Amino acid sequence: MTHRQFAPAEIQPRKFVFSRENETTIKNILAKYPEGRTASALLPLLNLAQRQHNGWLPEVAIRYVADLLNIPEIKAFEVASFYSMFNLSPRGFYLLQLCRTTPCWLKGSDDLARTCTEYLGIDFGETTSDGLFSLVEVECLGACINGPVIQINDDFYENLSASSLVEVLRALKSTGDANFGPAHKDRVSNSELGRSK
Ligand code: FES
Repeated sequence: MTHRQFAPAEIQPRKFVFSRENETTIKNILAKYPEGRTASALLPLLNLAQRQHNGWLPEVAIRYVADLLNIPEIKAFEVASFYSMFNLSPRGFYLLQLCRTTPCWLKGSDDLARTCTEYLGIDFGETTSDGLFSLVEVECLGACINGPVIQINDDFYENLSASSLVEVLRALKSTGDANFGPAHKDRVSNSELGRSK
């Protein structure tokens, strides 16, 4: 997995508060938990904070969430730094999370890694100079049936080859829109997976 570290102090914001809109969302999230068990809302609240803060979690936001849930800050830091879906430093507009666990590796994830580095000119843990793409390596994304898999922001792109991955990257770069789901029709389709475009 790509090495993860907190953003340097000079780019850590000093202040974080949830937007008014997200305060309403938080009320709805907390209402799902029994009284005295709201600490369990840590994951959804960190996720909400990250989405509000351009896709990454500054330290002040992690502390803010810990205070809000009345849990020790260290617990929130442990969770935020453990799960790869939480980004601890700024990322590109498109976050490419390439799975390289064994099933995807056997199906060609090395080709995809090479394609990303050659086409985008970046290595794992880096962002393109235009700020458009960041590349990280992750463990199993839970879509092994259609490996190799890459998650880009919230969407899965599956059963990719080097050429179909380039098509996806090209489409994202030029139009901001690319077909997610399995790249070949002989694999499990979006509709079979209950997804809609
Ligand atoms: S091994 Fe890649 S999605 Fe499971």
